[in-house]
Amino acid sequence: MKKIGIVGCGTIGEGIALFIDKNLSKQATITALADKKKIAATTLNKKLTKKAKIKTIENLVKEVDLVVETASQTAAYQTIKQILIYKKDIIILSVGALIKEPKILKEVQIKNINMYIPSGAISGVDGLGALAKGNIKKLTITTSKPPAGLAGAKYLKSKNIDINKLKKPTTIFSGGVKEAIKYFPKNINVAATLLFASKFNKVKVVIRLNPKIKRNIHKVEAVADEARIKTEVENVSSKINPKTSALTILSTQTLLEKIFSSVKIGS
Ligand SMILES: NC(=O)c1ccc[n+]([C@@H]2O[C@H](COP(=O)([O-])OP(=O)(O)OC[C@H]3O[C@@H](n4cnc5c(N)ncnc54)[C@H](O)[C@@H]3O)[C@@H](O)[C@H]2O)c1
Repeated sequence: MKKIGIVGCGTIGEGIALFIDKNLSKQATITALADKKKIAATTLNKKLTKKAKIKTIENLVKEVDLVVETASQTAAYQTIKQILIYKKDIIILSVGALIKEPKILKEVQIKNINMYIPSGAISGVDGLGALAKGNIKKLTITTSKPPAGLAGAKYLKSKNIDINKLKKPTTIFSGGVKEAIKYFPKNINVAATLLFASKFNKVKVVIRLNPKIKRNIHKVEAVADEARIKTEVENVSSKINPKTSALTILSTQTLLEKIFSSVKIGS
Protein backbone atom coordinates (compact mmCIF):
# COMPACT_ATOMS: atom_id res chain seq x y z
CA MET A 1 0.00 0.00 0.00
CA LYS A 2 1.59 3.27 -1.12
CA LYS A 3 1.30 6.30 1.08
CA ILE A 4 0.39 9.44 -0.85
CA GLY A 5 0.58 13.06 0.29
CA ILE A 6 -1.19 15.97 -1.42
CA VAL A 7 0.43 19.42 -1.31
CA GLY A 8 -2.27 21.94 -2.26
CA CYS A 9 -5.87 21.07 -1.40
CA GLY A 10 -7.56 23.25 -4.02
CA THR A 11 -9.23 22.33 -7.30
CA ILE A 12 -6.74 19.78 -8.63
CA GLY A 13 -5.72 18.53 -5.18
CA GLU A 14 -9.32 17.71 -4.37
CA GLY A 15 -9.92 16.03 -7.74
CA ILE A 16 -6.88 13.83 -7.19
CA ALA A 17 -7.46 13.07 -3.52
CA LEU A 18 -11.06 11.98 -4.05
CA PHE A 19 -10.02 9.86 -7.03
CA ILE A 20 -7.37 8.02 -5.00
CA ASP A 21 -9.78 7.59 -2.10
CA LYS A 22 -12.47 6.10 -4.34
CA ASN A 23 -10.68 4.38 -7.21
CA LEU A 24 -7.21 3.43 -6.01
CA SER A 25 -8.02 2.45 -2.45
CA LYS A 26 -6.58 -1.05 -2.94
CA GLN A 27 -3.19 0.29 -3.96
CA ALA A 28 -2.82 3.59 -2.14
CA THR A 29 -3.97 5.72 0.78
CA ILE A 30 -3.75 9.43 1.28
CA THR A 31 -1.97 9.71 4.57
CA ALA A 32 -1.11 13.41 4.58
CA LEU A 33 -2.40 16.73 3.30
CA ALA A 34 -0.66 20.12 3.28
CA ASP A 35 -1.94 23.54 2.39
CA LYS A 36 -0.95 27.04 3.40
CA LYS A 37 -4.64 27.56 4.18
CA LYS A 38 -5.39 25.02 6.89
CA ILE A 39 -9.10 25.28 6.17
CA ALA A 40 -8.52 23.96 2.63
CA ALA A 41 -6.79 20.87 4.03
CA THR A 42 -9.38 20.25 6.76
CA THR A 43 -12.27 20.70 4.32
CA LEU A 44 -10.76 18.17 1.93
CA ASN A 45 -9.97 15.77 4.77
CA LYS A 46 -13.63 15.71 5.76
CA LYS A 47 -14.48 14.38 2.28
CA LEU A 48 -12.04 11.45 2.48
CA THR A 49 -13.21 8.03 3.63
CA LYS A 50 -9.89 7.31 5.33
CA LYS A 51 -8.73 10.42 7.14
CA ALA A 52 -5.28 11.85 6.49
CA LYS A 53 -3.05 13.88 8.80
CA ILE A 54 -2.61 17.56 8.13
CA LYS A 55 1.07 18.35 7.99
CA THR A 56 3.68 20.86 6.95
CA ILE A 57 5.22 20.19 3.55
CA GLU A 58 8.41 18.85 5.13
CA ASN A 59 6.64 16.45 7.47
CA LEU A 60 4.35 15.31 4.66
CA VAL A 61 7.28 14.46 2.41
CA LYS A 62 9.03 12.56 5.24
CA GLU A 63 5.98 10.38 5.81
CA VAL A 64 4.79 9.41 2.32
CA ASP A 65 6.06 7.40 -0.67
CA LEU A 66 4.60 9.66 -3.37
CA VAL A 67 3.79 13.36 -3.24
CA VAL A 68 1.27 15.02 -5.56
CA GLU A 69 2.05 18.74 -5.80
CA THR A 70 -1.06 20.69 -6.78
CA ALA A 71 -0.43 24.07 -5.16
CA SER A 72 1.81 26.74 -6.71
CA GLN A 73 5.33 27.35 -7.96
CA THR A 74 6.44 28.43 -4.48
CA ALA A 75 5.05 25.24 -2.96
CA ALA A 76 6.61 23.21 -5.78
CA TYR A 77 10.11 24.57 -4.91
CA GLN A 78 9.55 23.88 -1.24
CA THR A 79 8.31 20.36 -1.93
CA ILE A 80 11.07 19.48 -4.37
CA LYS A 81 13.71 20.62 -1.86
CA GLN A 82 12.33 18.06 0.59
CA ILE A 83 11.85 15.41 -2.10
CA LEU A 84 15.54 15.65 -2.90
CA ILE A 85 16.47 15.25 0.77
CA TYR A 86 14.14 12.35 1.55
CA LYS A 87 14.26 10.76 -1.94
CA LYS A 88 10.51 10.44 -2.52
CA ASP A 89 8.60 10.29 -5.79
CA ILE A 90 6.55 13.24 -7.01
CA ILE A 91 3.82 14.17 -9.47
CA ILE A 92 4.21 17.85 -10.19
CA LEU A 93 1.52 20.17 -11.58
CA SER A 94 3.22 23.54 -11.10
CA VAL A 95 5.61 22.55 -13.88
CA GLY A 96 6.73 26.13 -14.49
CA ALA A 97 8.84 25.87 -11.32
CA LEU A 98 11.14 23.45 -13.16
CA ILE A 99 11.80 25.98 -15.93
CA LYS A 100 13.16 28.51 -13.48
CA GLU A 101 15.40 25.94 -11.77
CA PRO A 102 16.58 23.50 -14.46
CA LYS A 103 19.21 22.01 -12.15
CA ILE A 104 16.36 20.38 -10.20
CA LEU A 105 15.81 17.92 -13.04
CA LYS A 106 19.46 16.89 -13.04
CA GLU A 107 19.39 16.35 -9.27
CA VAL A 108 16.21 14.30 -9.56
CA GLN A 109 17.95 12.04 -12.09
CA ILE A 110 21.15 11.71 -10.05
CA LYS A 111 19.14 10.72 -6.98
CA ASN A 112 17.01 8.26 -8.95
CA ILE A 113 13.76 9.93 -7.96
CA ASN A 114 10.64 9.35 -10.08
CA MET A 115 9.19 12.67 -11.16
CA TYR A 116 5.94 12.53 -13.15
CA ILE A 117 4.52 15.40 -15.20
CA PRO A 118 0.90 14.98 -16.37
CA SER A 119 -0.03 16.14 -19.85
CA GLY A 120 -2.47 18.62 -18.25
CA ALA A 121 -4.70 20.59 -20.54
CA ILE A 122 -3.05 19.55 -23.81
CA SER A 123 -3.00 16.34 -25.80
CA GLY A 124 -0.41 14.65 -27.98
CA VAL A 125 2.34 14.78 -25.35
CA ASP A 126 3.13 11.12 -26.09
CA GLY A 127 3.78 11.92 -29.78
CA LEU A 128 5.93 14.91 -28.91
CA GLY A 129 7.88 12.73 -26.51
CA ALA A 130 8.49 10.31 -29.37
CA LEU A 131 9.61 13.16 -31.63
CA ALA A 132 12.19 14.11 -29.01
CA LYS A 133 14.15 11.19 -30.46
CA GLY A 134 13.74 12.59 -33.97
CA ASN A 135 14.50 15.99 -35.39
CA ILE A 136 12.02 18.67 -34.39
CA LYS A 137 12.31 21.87 -36.42
CA LYS A 138 9.46 23.91 -35.03
CA LEU A 139 7.10 23.63 -32.09
CA THR A 140 4.48 26.23 -31.26
CA ILE A 141 1.74 26.37 -28.69
CA THR A 142 -0.97 28.94 -29.29
CA THR A 143 -3.21 29.43 -26.30
CA SER A 144 -6.43 31.39 -26.75
CA LYS A 145 -8.32 32.51 -23.70
CA PRO A 146 -11.43 34.50 -22.99
CA PRO A 147 -10.12 37.87 -21.72
CA ALA A 148 -11.46 37.24 -18.19
CA GLY A 149 -9.13 34.22 -18.02
CA LEU A 150 -6.20 36.57 -17.50
CA ALA A 151 -7.97 39.10 -15.31
CA GLY A 152 -5.54 40.49 -12.77
CA ALA A 153 -2.38 39.32 -14.58
CA LYS A 154 0.39 41.83 -13.84
CA TYR A 155 1.66 41.47 -17.40
CA LEU A 156 -1.50 43.04 -18.81
CA LYS A 157 -1.13 46.04 -16.54
CA SER A 158 2.51 46.50 -17.50
CA LYS A 159 1.53 46.48 -21.20
CA ASN A 160 -1.49 48.76 -20.66
CA ILE A 161 -3.87 46.11 -21.96
CA ASP A 162 -7.44 46.65 -20.79
CA ILE A 163 -9.24 43.32 -21.19
CA ASN A 164 -12.63 45.02 -21.13
CA LYS A 165 -11.79 46.99 -24.26
CA LEU A 166 -10.78 44.02 -26.41
CA LYS A 167 -13.25 43.60 -29.26
CA LYS A 168 -11.37 41.10 -31.44
CA PRO A 169 -8.85 38.28 -30.97
CA THR A 170 -5.55 39.87 -29.94
CA THR A 171 -2.10 38.39 -29.49
CA ILE A 172 -0.83 39.68 -26.18
CA PHE A 173 2.32 37.59 -25.89
CA SER A 174 4.71 35.81 -28.21
CA GLY A 175 8.00 34.46 -26.96
CA GLY A 176 9.84 31.56 -25.34
CA VAL A 177 8.72 29.27 -22.53
CA LYS A 178 10.91 30.88 -19.87
CA GLU A 179 9.45 34.31 -20.54
CA ALA A 180 5.90 32.92 -20.75
CA ILE A 181 6.24 31.22 -17.36
CA LYS A 182 7.72 34.39 -15.89
CA TYR A 183 4.80 36.55 -17.00
CA PHE A 184 2.01 34.00 -16.62
CA PRO A 185 3.14 31.70 -13.77
CA LYS A 186 -0.33 30.28 -13.14
CA ASN A 187 -1.60 30.05 -16.68
CA ILE A 188 0.89 28.41 -19.01
CA ASN A 189 2.32 25.37 -17.22
CA VAL A 190 1.54 23.36 -20.36
CA ALA A 191 4.27 25.25 -22.25
CA ALA A 192 6.81 23.87 -19.78
CA THR A 193 5.31 20.40 -20.15
CA LEU A 194 5.74 20.66 -23.93
CA LEU A 195 9.36 21.67 -23.57
CA PHE A 196 10.18 18.79 -21.22
CA ALA A 197 8.33 16.24 -23.35
CA SER A 198 9.84 17.31 -26.67
CA LYS A 199 13.28 18.33 -25.32
CA PHE A 200 13.06 21.07 -27.96
CA ASN A 201 14.32 24.22 -26.34
CA LYS A 202 12.97 26.63 -28.95
CA VAL A 203 9.27 26.10 -28.18
CA LYS A 204 7.34 29.22 -29.21
CA VAL A 205 4.47 30.35 -27.01
CA VAL A 206 1.70 32.57 -28.33
CA ILE A 207 -1.02 33.80 -26.00
CA ARG A 208 -4.18 35.32 -27.46
CA LEU A 209 -7.18 36.87 -25.82
CA ASN A 210 -10.37 36.30 -27.72
CA PRO A 211 -13.60 37.98 -26.51
CA LYS A 212 -15.62 35.63 -28.74
CA ILE A 213 -14.66 32.41 -26.94
CA LYS A 214 -15.77 31.00 -23.62
CA ARG A 215 -13.18 28.26 -23.25
CA ASN A 216 -9.37 28.04 -23.20
CA ILE A 217 -8.08 26.56 -26.43
CA HIS A 218 -4.57 25.11 -26.77
CA LYS A 219 -3.29 24.51 -30.30
CA VAL A 220 0.03 22.70 -30.58
CA GLU A 221 1.87 22.39 -33.88
CA ALA A 222 5.08 20.44 -34.25
CA VAL A 223 7.08 20.16 -37.45
CA ALA A 224 9.73 17.47 -37.48
CA ASP A 225 11.55 15.32 -40.04
CA GLU A 226 9.59 12.30 -38.82
CA ALA A 227 6.06 13.75 -38.50
CA ARG A 228 3.90 16.81 -38.30
CA ILE A 229 1.66 16.85 -35.27
CA LYS A 230 -1.24 19.23 -34.81
CA THR A 231 -3.52 19.07 -31.81
CA GLU A 232 -6.25 21.37 -30.63
CA VAL A 233 -7.94 21.07 -27.28
CA GLU A 234 -10.94 23.12 -26.28
CA ASN A 235 -10.96 22.94 -22.52
CA VAL A 236 -13.96 22.97 -20.25
CA SER A 237 -13.12 24.74 -17.01
CA SER A 238 -13.33 22.96 -13.72
CA LYS A 239 -16.46 24.10 -11.92
CA ILE A 240 -14.44 25.13 -8.86
CA ASN A 241 -11.62 27.10 -10.48
CA PRO A 242 -12.22 28.56 -13.97
CA LYS A 243 -8.43 28.83 -14.46
CA THR A 244 -8.06 25.05 -14.24
CA SER A 245 -9.35 22.74 -16.92
CA ALA A 246 -11.27 19.58 -16.16
CA LEU A 247 -8.86 17.75 -18.51
CA THR A 248 -5.91 18.60 -16.25
CA ILE A 249 -7.60 16.81 -13.37
CA LEU A 250 -8.51 13.82 -15.55
CA SER A 251 -5.02 13.56 -17.04
CA THR A 252 -3.48 13.57 -13.57
CA GLN A 253 -5.89 10.87 -12.44
CA THR A 254 -4.96 8.85 -15.53
CA LEU A 255 -1.26 9.26 -14.80
CA LEU A 256 -1.81 7.99 -11.27
CA GLU A 257 -3.78 5.03 -12.60
CA LYS A 258 -0.90 4.27 -14.94
CA ILE A 259 1.62 4.36 -12.09
CA PHE A 260 -0.40 1.73 -10.26
CA SER A 261 -1.44 -0.34 -13.25
CA SER A 262 0.43 -3.26 -14.77
CA VAL A 263 -0.82 -2.39 -18.28
CA LYS A 264 0.61 0.96 -19.39
CA ILE A 265 -0.82 2.44 -22.59
CA GLY A 266 0.95 5.22 -24.49
CA SER A 267 4.46 6.48 -24.07
N1 LIG B 1 0.34 21.31 -15.43
C1 LIG B 1 -0.81 21.81 -15.84
O1 LIG B 1 -1.25 21.55 -16.94
C2 LIG B 1 -1.61 22.69 -14.92
C3 LIG B 1 -2.93 23.03 -15.24
C4 LIG B 1 -3.66 23.79 -14.34
C5 LIG B 1 -3.08 24.24 -13.17
N2 LIG B 1 -1.78 23.92 -12.91
C6 LIG B 1 -1.12 24.37 -11.67
O2 LIG B 1 -1.51 23.50 -10.61
C7 LIG B 1 -1.49 24.22 -9.38
C8 LIG B 1 -2.82 24.01 -8.64
O3 LIG B 1 -3.91 24.50 -9.42
P1 LIG B 1 -5.40 24.55 -8.83
O4 LIG B 1 -6.30 24.91 -9.93
O5 LIG B 1 -5.68 23.32 -8.04
O6 LIG B 1 -5.27 25.81 -7.85
P2 LIG B 1 -6.21 26.20 -6.61
O7 LIG B 1 -5.98 27.66 -6.41
O8 LIG B 1 -7.59 25.72 -6.79
O9 LIG B 1 -5.57 25.39 -5.38
C9 LIG B 1 -4.25 25.58 -4.94
C10 LIG B 1 -4.18 25.23 -3.45
O10 LIG B 1 -2.81 25.25 -3.08
C11 LIG B 1 -2.64 26.03 -1.90
N3 LIG B 1 -1.32 26.66 -1.93
C12 LIG B 1 -0.90 27.67 -2.73
N4 LIG B 1 0.37 28.01 -2.43
C13 LIG B 1 0.77 27.17 -1.43
C14 LIG B 1 1.97 27.04 -0.70
N5 LIG B 1 3.04 27.83 -0.93
N6 LIG B 1 2.03 26.07 0.27
C15 LIG B 1 0.95 25.28 0.52
N7 LIG B 1 -0.22 25.39 -0.13
C16 LIG B 1 -0.31 26.32 -1.10
C17 LIG B 1 -3.77 27.05 -1.92
O11 LIG B 1 -4.08 27.51 -0.62
C18 LIG B 1 -4.90 26.26 -2.56
O12 LIG B 1 -5.69 25.59 -1.58
C19 LIG B 1 -1.18 25.69 -9.73
O13 LIG B 1 0.21 25.93 -9.59
C20 LIG B 1 -1.55 25.76 -11.20
O14 LIG B 1 -0.84 26.77 -11.90
C21 LIG B 1 -1.07 23.14 -13.74
